Amino acid sequence: MNSTVKKISNDFSPVGFSITPFAANPRLQVIKLSSETVKSFIEQVLPLGVQAIEYKPFLRFHAADILNKLTDDTLGANLLGIIKSRATGGFMLQCEPVVADFDQLEFNILLSTAVSHLIGVPNLDAMYGKFYARFSVKNEDNSDSYLRQAHRRMELHNDGTYVKERTDWVLMQKLAEENMQGGDSLMLHVDEWQDLEKFYNHPLAKEDIQWTSPASKNVGYKIQHPVFFEEDENGRPKMLFIDQFAEPLNMRQGQYLFEMGSSLEAEENTINVRVPVGSMLVMNNHVWLHGRDKFTADKGLYRELLRQRGAYYENAKL
Ligand SMILES: [Fe+2]
Repeated sequence: MNSTVKKISNDFSPVGFSITPFAANPRLQVIKLSSETVKSFIEQVLPLGVQAIEYKPFLRFHAADILNKLTDDTLGANLLGIIKSRATGGFMLQCEPVVADFDQLEFNILLSTAVSHLIGVPNLDAMYGKFYARFSVKNEDNSDSYLRQAHRRMELHNDGTYVKERTDWVLMQKLAEENMQGGDSLMLHVDEWQDLEKFYNHPLAKEDIQWTSPASKNVGYKIQHPVFFEEDENGRPKMLFIDQFAEPLNMRQGQYLFEMGSSLEAEENTINVRVPVGSMLVMNNHVWLHGRDKFTADKGLYRELLRQRGAYYENAKL
């Protein structure tokens, strides 16, 4: 490696990928891996195989290390910097096209695993029984939450509200889509919520709320925490809110949560983000709320997502 590249990499300027702000909201960063980086990742990581990384957790870190080395150790530092900074707190990661013959599903699972292990450790996804979950949205659905229901908007929320595991970040990758109109991801940064101070300065902002979840989530307990559960190093609030799984125990709590949900849904600073197949959205779960716009009815509608959620390395130990 020549000295110029070495010098650049010391300050974590991107090598083998680019970073540009997302048009609709420059807080969100668009990371694009170069064709060369993607090609080398395919050559070096795909031979590991998805089954092996499911069975051996250390291989997930090995995949992440290979990806990081392909970028001269600059990718991990940039991803962590973006996720942990309140000003940005999120990125969409995409790949430049490559001419190669490879298994797209294996590639997607291995790439999202490499990315997640550059920013922390994923939690076990109780709904799917693995460190990642795959789930689909179809035109018809009989499930017990709005996660898989196509014809309505899934309201803005944070993940990990009803589990004990810490959920510092959320990764959502689009695996497939067919006949899809609508269904964009919705995102709102907590600091862009115009009613934030009204709800944060409210007497109930720090009062414990009870959170529970339906059977499909496979979580057999209830937990308590306030919506504004923690402050960052500058004293700014972090949030854990989801309308469906809050279980208010009196009228005051019920009204506070009802007004909060109404305010969030009316917020005009919410952005629509169309995630192309193969791309992933990764966000700081405590400063970005996310949701999903409704889909246009279509008998052939099919969309499949992969999700990983977890903690930063320093928060990962249970
Ligand atoms: Fe979610």
